[in-house]
Amino acid sequence: MASLETTVDGLKLANPFIIGSGPPGTNVKVIKRAFKEGWGAVIAKTVSLDASKVVNVGPRYAKLMAGDGKEVIGWENIELISDRKFEIWLDEFKEAKDACPDGVLIASIMEEYNKDAWCEIVGRCQDAGVDGFELNFSCPHGLPERKMGAAMGQDPAILEEVCGWVMGAAKIPVWAKMTPNVTHIEEPTAAALRAGCHGVSAINTIRSVMGVNLDTLRPEPTVEGYTTPGGYSSKAVKPIALRMVMEIAQLIKKDFPGRSLSGLGGIETGADAAQFILLGSDTVQVCTGVMKFGYGMVTELCEGLLAFMEGKGFETLADFKGLSLPYFTTHAELVRMQLARKAEEAAAKERAGMVKSDAEWDGDDFVKQSDALARKASS
Ligand SMILES: Cc1cc2nc3c(=O)[nH]c(=O)nc-3n(C[C@H](O)[C@H](O)[C@H](O)COP(=O)(O)O)c2cc1C
Repeated sequence: MASLETTVDGLKLANPFIIGSGPPGTNVKVIKRAFKEGWGAVIAKTVSLDASKVVNVGPRYAKLMAGDGKEVIGWENIELISDRKFEIWLDEFKEAKDACPDGVLIASIMEEYNKDAWCEIVGRCQDAGVDGFELNFSCPHGLPERKMGAAMGQDPAILEEVCGWVMGAAKIPVWAKMTPNVTHIEEPTAAALRAGCHGVSAINTIRSVMGVNLDTLRPEPTVEGYTTPGGYSSKAVKPIALRMVMEIAQLIKKDFPGRSLSGLGGIETGADAAQFILLGSDTVQVCTGVMKFGYGMVTELCEGLLAFMEGKGFETLADFKGLSLPYFTTHAELVRMQLARKAEEAAAKERAGMVKSDAEWDGDDFVKQSDALARKASS
């Protein structure tokens, strides 16, 4: 029988479905709820040492609806990292692990460009009992103004240095979360993996402007009449996330074998998850999906993924991880392969028109049959 169990970087997960950092992991109540519903792991909302610098606004979300106006397909947020005190978080990490000792709890952390701050946040979170770290180098709004988040993730040299500090202090697995707001995601990914991170997560939100209200002429979400570009997530970003996951998986396969990849961006079904795994993900995360459908969606995610595996005869996630990766190539190669196939088809058609025994000669087609057997030479 097919199984969803997996071990990644030594972390034992009952299934590959992880709560992505954000509102669904924003305090101990919801973290415990996620474990109770059966999520394979939880990545808590990103924390920093000094939450007093984090001031959120409202409204801070904007939704893009599909044509029928009923389905949310895109979601923009201008939410910052957690505005809750670090000391409270440490107590809640302990409480979550005491209540759910088998629940895999990953702390998402972010700090300014300061070695002592990164070492302190790593040390104190791991003393509180978390099982792993995700380094948030990817929030596209608010934090870059303090040279944090995406501002760090867009600079491979700084990213490599910071990952090096973290790897010097961490005794548990570390994943670096990548921003999609770069031209070549392989460059910051390689920097994080060169520094020794166990794995990477991709993608965070895509820098966006949700729209302009045609009555007020103000961009959305409007706060006191103004807005700021935010981060785009949900179903609409899945094709972009899949492309980046594919590029990272190719890099890992070539230069960093054995490192892990946690894929996310628009995952809502077991079939979505199967596609991320086929393109090289070890685990998959869901953030906006939980905000749309609730914690109980994990049951359907597991059932959907198991149904795919059973339909294809896969028993474990390893049986199909990365299986679709070899089927990417350059456009020039697509052209070459298509011309070759067309030439082969034409030759096959020509061969089919040739008589194979004298009994096939026919009065009506005699000239055509003679021509098919002939090769022309110039005189
Ligand atoms: C409201 C909201 C808040 C988020 N906050 C964080 C955060 O604190 N840290 C982080 O690493 N990612 C954060 N994210 C990004 C998500 O973890 C995820 O990378 C992104 O939304 C794409 O996945 P999804 O389509 O499943 O949401 C947030 C996303 C949303 C929608």
